[in-house]
Amino acid sequence: MRNILAGGAALACAACGGEADWWGPELAEDLDRDRHTLEVELEAAPSSLDWGVGDGTEVWSYNGAVPGPVLQAAVGDTLRVRLHNGIEEDTTIHWHGMRVPNTMDGVSWVQDPLAPGDDFTYEFTIPDSGTFWYHPHINSPEQIERGLYGVVVATDPDDPTVDVERLLVLDDVDLQPTGEIAPFELDESTVNSELGRLGNVLLVNGASVLDGPVRAEARGGQVERWRLVNAANARTFTLELGGADWRVVAEDGTRIDPPQTPDRLTLASGQRVDLEVLPAEEDLTLTLILQPPSADEIPWPAFVAEIERPDDAAEPLDWPPPSLPEVVPTTQEVTLTLAGDAEDGAAMTWTINGQAWTSCEDMLGGDPIPVDGDTPTALTIVNDSEIQHPFHLHGQFMQVLAIDGVAPAYAGQRDTVLLEAEQTAELFTMFDNPGLWMAHCHILEHVARGMMTAFDVSSAR
Ligand code: C2O
Ligand code: CU
Repeated sequence: MRNILAGGAALACAACGGEADWWGPELAEDLDRDRHTLEVELEAAPSSLDWGVGDGTEVWSYNGAVPGPVLQAAVGDTLRVRLHNGIEEDTTIHWHGMRVPNTMDGVSWVQDPLAPGDDFTYEFTIPDSGTFWYHPHINSPEQIERGLYGVVVATDPDDPTVDVERLLVLDDVDLQPTGEIAPFELDESTVNSELGRLGNVLLVNGASVLDGPVRAEARGGQVERWRLVNAANARTFTLELGGADWRVVAEDGTRIDPPQTPDRLTLASGQRVDLEVLPAEEDLTLTLILQPPSADEIPWPAFVAEIERPDDAAEPLDWPPPSLPEVVPTTQEVTLTLAGDAEDGAAMTWTINGQAWTSCEDMLGGDPIPVDGDTPTALTIVNDSEIQHPFHLHGQFMQVLAIDGVAPAYAGQRDTVLLEAEQTAELFTMFDNPGLWMAHCHILEHVARGMMTAFDVSSAR
C-alpha cells in the first residue's frame, strides 16, 4: 500500500490486503515482524504546530502529529501499543468503539492511569473490522482538544477491494488570536458547559481549513473508500459531498444494509461513517455546513479533489451485509434519561437518571447499573433536554430499532447514537462483552459536567 499524502514514503502495514492507495494521516510503522501483529510505540508529548493563527500552537500529540499515527491491521490481528506518557499529567488510551477486553478500555477503574514518564502496553486481538479511534480517557476535554487522538483502521477480508482509501479526521479547536489553545474553564463557562466547546478553527487531518480546503487529486473510473471520523469535543458536523456518486457503507465501523445516500451526512462527536465514493465530475468536494445560532447556514469547503478523467465511470461495489446479532424478544430492559440543569448564571450540570458523575472515582462510589451479559436487552435512551447528545456505550454495539418510534431504513450497529433534543432512542444490545463499561454523552464537556454512568455486565450465564 502506498502513501500518497505524507511525502510518498512507503510505509509498512501489518495487513494490507488490497492494493488500495492510502491517502490520509501517516500509517504507523510496524515494529513487529509477525504478519498478524501490529506493534507500535506511541508517545504522548507536547509539540508545536502551525494552524495559521498567531505564532503557532502548542499541542499535545502522539508521536508529534495530530492526528496520531493510523493503526491499520486486519480484524483478528494482535494490536500491541506501547504508550509513553510524555505530558505533565496522567493519561490513558481508550479504544473508542472497539470491543476490547475490559482491562484494556483505558478508563481509570480498570487501569491505573499513566503518571508523567510512565509506560503501559495495551495488547488485544482486534475484535471487529471497521473504523475506530483512540484517545485519552482522563481529562478528555483538554487532552483530546490539545490533539491527542488517532484512528484505528481494522480491515476486513469481506470488504470489496477499492482503488483508494481516504481517511478524513474532522476536528475543531478553540484558539486565541495568539495561536494558543483557549483556556479550559469549564466550571465557570456557562456556554461551554451548555453546548460543549465549539472551536473557531476547523481541522481536516490536523490541517487548518481556515484559509482554504485540503486539496488532493482523484481519478474517474476509480472506487474510493472514505472513512470520516469526528474527533471534535462537541461539534456535530453536517457535511455535503459533491462531484461524486456516493453511498454510506458503514457507520461506527459496522457495514450497513443496504448502503444509503442521504442528502447530507451528520457526524456527531465520536461517530464515524464510511463512504463508497465514485468520482464523477470535475471536482470532488466535501463541504461543512456551519450552523451558527440564528443565522443562515455557512458552507465551508473542507476538502477538494481535482478529478482526472471525470468521464471514466466506475461501477459501485458489492458490500456484503453485516452480520448482526439477531434481534430477538428482549428479556432485560434499561432506560437512561439524559437531562441537564443550571442555577442562574452558573455552569450546567448534566445527569443520567438524575445522577451527575464527573469522575471514575465518583462512579465507583456510585452504583454501576448491573446487567446480565449475553442477554437480549432493550436499551432506551430518553433525551429530556433541549439540545442534542451523542450517547456512547463502551465495549458493546447497539442496534438502533427506532428513534421517536420511527425505525431506520437500514440495518447496522453503532457505538455512538445521536439523540436530538427531546428524542427517544430504542436500542437493542446483547451486552456480550463482560466487565465494567462506561456509558456517556460524547460531548466531552457534558461528561465532565456529569453526563455519564456505567454498566456492570456479568459474564455469560
Ligand atoms: Cu470516545 Cu468514553 O469515549
Ligand atoms: Cu451531551
